[in-house]
This record gives sequence, structure tokens and C-alpha cells, in this order.
Amino acid sequence: MRASSLVDHCATSLVVVVLLTAAAAARTNNECHSGDKAALLAIKSAFGNASYFNSWTPDTPCCEWTSVSCSGDGSAAARRVVGVSLVDDASLAGPLPGAAIARLTALQQLVLNNVPGVNGTIPRDLTRLNATLGLLDIISTGISGPVPSFLSEITALSYLSLSSNKLTGPIPASLGDMPNLYFLDLGYNRLTGTIPPLLLRKASDAYLYLSHNKLTGGVPAEFAAVHFWTIDLSYNGFKGDASSLFGANKPLLNVDLSHNAFSFNLSGVQLPEGLNSLELSHNDIYGDIPEMVVDMMLNYLNVSYNRLSGVVPAGGNMAWFDQSCFQHNKGLCGSPLPPCKH
Ligand SMILES: *[C@@H]1O[C@H](CO)[C@@H](O)[C@H](O)[C@H]1NC(C)=O
Ligand SMILES: *[C@@H]1O[C@H](CO)[C@@H](O)[C@H](O)[C@H]1NC(C)=O
Ligand SMILES: *[C@@H]1O[C@H](CO)[C@@H](O)[C@H](O)[C@H]1NC(C)=O
Ligand SMILES: *[C@@H]1O[C@H](CO)[C@@H](O)[C@H](O)[C@H]1NC(C)=O
Ligand SMILES: *[C@@H]1O[C@H](CO)[C@@H](O)[C@H](O)[C@H]1NC(C)=O
Repeated sequence: MRASSLVDHCATSLVVVVLLTAAAAARTNNECHSGDKAALLAIKSAFGNASYFNSWTPDTPCCEWTSVSCSGDGSAAARRVVGVSLVDDASLAGPLPGAAIARLTALQQLVLNNVPGVNGTIPRDLTRLNATLGLLDIISTGISGPVPSFLSEITALSYLSLSSNKLTGPIPASLGDMPNLYFLDLGYNRLTGTIPPLLLRKASDAYLYLSHNKLTGGVPAEFAAVHFWTIDLSYNGFKGDASSLFGANKPLLNVDLSHNAFSFNLSGVQLPEGLNSLELSHNDIYGDIPEMVVDMMLNYLNVSYNRLSGVVPAGGNMAWFDQSCFQHNKGLCGSPLPPCKH
């Protein structure tokens, strides 16, 4: 009884697979450009034909391989490989095969995420994709060495995340030359040195994440003119005045300056009206919390562990924030902290 139902089930699945495959073949062509297919097989071989690539077999159409995406809908004779994403696999090991990847001459998106065995440095061959590669994610890998200066040669690049690797050395100033870059995440590495002043100056909406590094120095004066939507400088060794990031008409949504040694007077700071999240804890910020916070739609506010004084403004969203958001300041008082002494 059990055996026969198993056979039945298998037979049904087989029919369904055959029908689906026939329908797909009639409608689309899932084979990719032959050069792209050869490049993908070279990537597979460079990783020692790891089991991750089991679906990458020469006799199947490569647009159907896992982790591969192609352009077009198959009406064109040869589809191009535009995306490769290698994710969540601890058995992928060894250096990033830059030369093989660079043979994917139409590649627009390259993603490595949570592949801790991939190691070595970021290969220069990636610059051969200068005209096409718009998104590069190398996240949670074993890759070490510098953030290479040559990445700026990839002029198509608009989105670059190199977070959670073992990168060391400075942020290259050349990243400030990139014409299309608007999203830069270098968080959770071991970077040192200061922020290059011209970073993201060309972006109409800029996202910068540098948290959890060993960066020092101040916020560049040039940042006053950058259209940041998000800036996260938390957990570094930054100091000085960061108030130029703020201002009434800025598009800022999220600011995290926590766990640094920033020191400036918060009293006179004009917070942008649309600000959603403001994390300033663990710095040397002084003055008062601006009264305008009560008129804003803040969803997160934390100013704890600073040298602020005065009364915690009451009203608006302020009731959402508990005493942990205000604790450990020099002279802050009033709800949710103990009452002020008159
Ligand atoms: C991977 O498999 C291909 C095809 O079977 C073979 O030519 C190549 O040598 C293999 N590479 C490695 C590193 O095992
Ligand atoms: C990369 O990892 C392998 C082990 O998987 C190791 O033998 C090799 O030395 C590592 N290379 C670098 C540059 O860390
Ligand atoms: C890409 O690099 C090549 C070789 O350096 C150069 O000729 C070409 O103009 C570059 N293309 C773009 C879009 O930057
Ligand atoms: C902070 O700035 C306010 C005016 O915006 C000023 O009244 C106050 O004295 C300043 N505090 C310090 C400690 O400089
Ligand atoms: C505010 O920051 C402090 C210090 O980092 C932390 O202990 C507290 O939990 C934070 N409060 C909230 C609500 O996140």
C-alpha cells in the first residue's frame, strides 16, 4: 500500500515535470550566451566544483541554474547573465575567482553573502566590469586586505556593500570620485584612518554605513552638503563636532553617531523635520535636547551617556522613550527621568 502510493506520487511528479519543462521550452529560451556559460563553469571549477553548484551542469540551460539570473525573457537568441549571487554556504572556500567572474561581461549584480570560507583579497579583475557592474555585495565572507582604491574604476557602481569582512587599512579617497555611487556600507570591518571628505558628494540620496570599525577624526566639513538619507558612524573613534550633518531642510531619516567621542552643543541644532531615528548615545554631547523633538515623528531617540542638561521635552512622540534613552547625562531631568529640582 505504502509502496504503491509512493510510486503513484513519483509518477505524477514526473508527468508534471515533463509538462512544465515542455511548456517552458515552448515559451522561453533559458540558455545563456555561450561565453557566459563558460565563465560560470570556470567559477564553479575555481571553487573546486563544490556541491553548491550541483545545478550548474553543461547540459542544462544556464538561466535555470541556481544563483544565476539572466536578462530578457528568452525571446532573444542568447540571454546574458546579469546577476550571480552566492549565499549562505559554509562549504564554498577559497579566493574570489576574479578572472572567471570578469568573463561575465554583462554582469550587473554580484552578491556574496554569508560565505565565510571565501577568502583572500578583492580581485582587481572586477574592474573589467567597469561599464556594467552596478551592485557589488561582499558581505560576511572571510575576505581580508584593503578596500581597494581601484574599485573607483567601476564607474557603473551605484551600490557597494563590503560589510562584515576582515578588511583593514583606510577608506580610499578614490571612492569620492565615483559618479554613480549612492549606497556605501563598509561596516563591521577593521578599517582605520579618517573619512575621505568627498565621499558620496555626487549622490542625490546618500546612504553611508561605517559602523563597527576603528575609524578616527571628525565628520568632514564637506558632509554638510551631502544629501544623506542615512548615516551610521557608530562604534568608531570619531570626535569633534558632527552638528553640520543636521539642518532644517535636510532629507535625513536615520542618524546613528553612537559610541564615539563626538562633542558639540545640541541646544542650537536644527533637527530635520522628517528625522525618524536619532541615536547619539555614548558621546560627549552637551547642551539641551532641542524642544522641537516634540513636533517631530521620531520613532527612535537615544541620547544616553552624554553630558546633556536641562529638562527632557514632553509631548508628541516623547512619551514612547523610556529612561534608558536619557540615562547617564550630566544634568538631564524630568519625565521619564526623576523630576527637576527647582
Ligand atoms: C570541475 O569539473 C570539470 C568538469 O567535470 C572539470 O573539467 C574540472 O577539472 C573540475 N575542476 C575541479 C577543480 O575539480
Ligand atoms: C583561505 O582558506 C584556506 C582554507 O579554506 C586556507 O588554506 C588559505 O590559506 C586561506 N587563504 C587566505 C588568504 O586566507
Ligand atoms: C571601462 O574601462 C575601459 C578600459 O579601461 C575604458 O576604455 C572604458 O571607457 C571604461 N568604460 C566606462 C563606462 O567607464
Ligand atoms: C549651547 O548653545 C546655547 C544656544 O544655542 C547656549 O545658550 C549655551 O550656553 C550653549 N552651551 C554651552 C555649554 O556652550
Ligand atoms: C539607549 O542606549 C543605551 C546605551 O547604549 C542602552 O543601554 C539603552 O538600552 C538604549 N535604549 C533603548 C530603548 O534602546
